[in-house]
Amino acid sequence: MANKDKTKELDEYTKGRVENLPAAGDVRVSSVQNAVKTNNFEIERDRNADVSAARKDSYLAADIADLLIQQIGLELNNHYLYKNFGIWYDINSLFGQAAYFYHRAAEEQDHAQWVIDYLTRADFLFSIPGTDATYIDIFKDKNDLRIRDPHDETLIREIETTRAINNIKAVAEETHDYITSHWLRNLLLEQAEEEELSHTALDIFNHTDDPLIVDKYFKDVVMAQLQASK
Ligand SMILES: [Fe+2]
Ligand SMILES: [Fe+2]
Repeated sequence: MANKDKTKELDEYTKGRVENLPAAGDVRVSSVQNAVKTNNFEIERDRNADVSAARKDSYLAADIADLLIQQIGLELNNHYLYKNFGIWYDINSLFGQAAYFYHRAAEEQDHAQWVIDYLTRADFLFSIPGTDATYIDIFKDKNDLRIRDPHDETLIREIETTRAINNIKAVAEETHDYITSHWLRNLLLEQAEEEELSHTALDIFNHTDDPLIVDKYFKDVVMAQLQASK
């Protein structure tokens, strides 16, 4: 075929392609019509119907949020309890254990704030629960308080706290809330450290009954380790 013929054939082909192109507006209209035909819009409507208003406000379900709010209460209960223990040691001039319990109290406040931050980042509106743990409540019937009693109470508190966080983890997994389940990891690992530390604190009482040696151990050994691991 001569070059001239080739060019003519190409011109006609191109012209035909251009003439058959839909106008800009037509493209949109035909897409919408196709979507309706294939029921895309119906599917979108059904999806919206499945999503509750609460789910649109926050990905946290009310049940799991309630448990997390209770956890804030537990952490703050422990915070105030340990602060009260610190005060008791302080006024009895056992400054090593006073420093130890003030340190523990500060950590509990941090944990409460972690949970507060998690809830607020999820846009979940809540109020902090009231606290009820005080030194006086726990030891009101005890006239002969021994210096290891607050440490015994602390270990029990920490075991209860570990169980409470484990329960939140179990509920999160059961309800397929993998976001919360994943987030709980750090809180659990931190909690394991706290429970272990409470064991360590009791170990010294197996070695001596002397309150001044005990207190010096807290001041020189336990506090030094806590400061070093910060
Ligand atoms: Fe804690
Ligand atoms: Fe704790």
